[in-house]
Amino acid sequence: MPTVLEALQNRSSKRAYTNEKIPKETLEKILNAAALTPSGANMQPWVTYAITNEEVLKNVGDAVIKKMDEGVLNDQFIQYYPIKWTNPYKKRRIVTGAGLYKHMDVDRKDDITRVQMWKDNFRWFGANTVIFVFTAKANIDEAQGAFIDCGAYMQSIMLAAQDFGIESCPQGSTTEFGKVIARTLDIPENLALLYSVVLGYEDKSSKINAYQPEKVKLGESVTFID
Ligand SMILES: Cc1cc2nc3c(=O)[nH]c(=O)nc-3n(C[C@H](O)[C@H](O)[C@H](O)COP(=O)(O)O)c2cc1C
Repeated sequence: MPTVLEALQNRSSKRAYTNEKIPKETLEKILNAAALTPSGANMQPWVTYAITNEEVLKNVGDAVIKKMDEGVLNDQFIQYYPIKWTNPYKKRRIVTGAGLYKHMDVDRKDDITRVQMWKDNFRWFGANTVIFVFTAKANIDEAQGAFIDCGAYMQSIMLAAQDFGIESCPQGSTTEFGKVIARTLDIPENLALLYSVVLGYEDKSSKINAYQPEKVKLGESVTFID
């Protein structure tokens, strides 16, 4: 069993999975642990759909890909990324994306492969478990606290998964198509999709999973005031 520090160090986003199923009991343990995540006023604003049904996942993926193929750029409840990118974030995004394509020997101008790689998000990278996290629209209408709580919940899921040798990929790509996903899943009207997390057993033979984007050094993000 990894220590928390080891789980933090071992985790990275994985984008290729085997078709091995996560036992229901294990998934329940992960979600029970994640449910211990602290939240402001103990609101526990996450409303979670843990989907392992192959047909349902295919339908959700098909619905998003159809939208993409129609040229729809997003169909979302919340805007995840900045509208105007500024540095150093713009640069980090470019370096991370370019690094992944270089690692995969995909040419910068090869839009077809790049779009295909993005669409892999909606095929869940071959995994058969996806956790969709919603919150009540009323929580985020005029306040942002639920985003903080649900972000912490996301990390709890991914770290708890490490205990069972289960890897993950958080997905803001589903945030961008939250409305079509909610409609396909027939989710109650009062809920908004925040994100999803793919969970599964890593395909160790896959090249893409070896990609490790660079992280900034402590001094770049932390100011100590001693
Ligand atoms: C909220 C959030 C949304 C993300 N969305 C996606 C996504 O849609 N597709 C994807 O492949 N990776 C996605 N990622 C993974 C990031 O690209 C990844 O965390 C980042 O490059 C750092 O790499 P690491 O997770 O391996 O440390 C997302 C990460 C977060 C936290």
